[in-house]
Amino acid sequence: MKKSARLSFICGELDECELFADIGCDHGYCSEYMLDHRLCRKVQFSDISAKCLKKAETLLAAYIKEGIAFPVVCAGLEKIDPKTDLVLIAGMGGEEIVKILSEGFLPPKLLLQPMKNSDKVRSFLLQNGYGMQKDYTFFADGKFYDLIKASRAVKAEEYTRDMICFGRDNLLFPGKDFIRKLERDMRDLESWMAGAKDGKENLGARLAKLREIYSETCRRL
Ligand SMILES: C[S@@+](CC[C@H](N)C(=O)[O-])C[C@H]1O[C@@H](n2cnc3c(N)ncnc32)[C@H](O)[C@@H]1O
Repeated sequence: MKKSARLSFICGELDECELFADIGCDHGYCSEYMLDHRLCRKVQFSDISAKCLKKAETLLAAYIKEGIAFPVVCAGLEKIDPKTDLVLIAGMGGEEIVKILSEGFLPPKLLLQPMKNSDKVRSFLLQNGYGMQKDYTFFADGKFYDLIKASRAVKAEEYTRDMICFGRDNLLFPGKDFIRKLERDMRDLESWMAGAKDGKENLGARLAKLREIYSETCRRL
């Protein structure tokens, strides 16, 4: 399997289930991982684009023939079996992820890797009865990503505003990837501020927040 470090990371967080759905699967590597490792009984892999789905259909041809993998062309959860117990949505924006879940159904377990607007995803999950099993930032292939593993069987805990913005586990149990991301973001803001003619106040407020989180985080290490 020639998947990226990001995808290997995501696959490492996939749990065993009965019926798995990989929404916006594109290449289909995560579905392949579930099937190769016998982590589920059946997989539905879907994409809004028939052309993208074709790649996964080729990759998973043997499993399709065996009758345990099912390709679906659809938007979001439109044609996905509502009895699916684990849904993966990775590599899409947070607003798109929220739209997919709002317009579809709410499965017992979710693994989400938003490319941006993770705060909107966290707020949506908390408002809809999910508890977070994991909520942290990781570094792979030269970039930082957020990963959120949520379950309706886990009690939704109180999230502070900072936890919603930065990710709960990053604040409670900071890892080196989150610290590196804070350092990178602070450097970026400092250089934008140095070159900015307008909007310095907003940038300054954002930088002050990052510095506050950074010093709290370092204290926790
Ligand atoms: C950047 S790729 C991510 C692929 C894979 N999930 C990953 O993490 O590497 C996004 C994929 O989602 C598909 N997509 C975008 N919006 C979608 C939607 N609303 N429903 C289903 N698929 C969608 C795109 O066609 C594309 O193949």
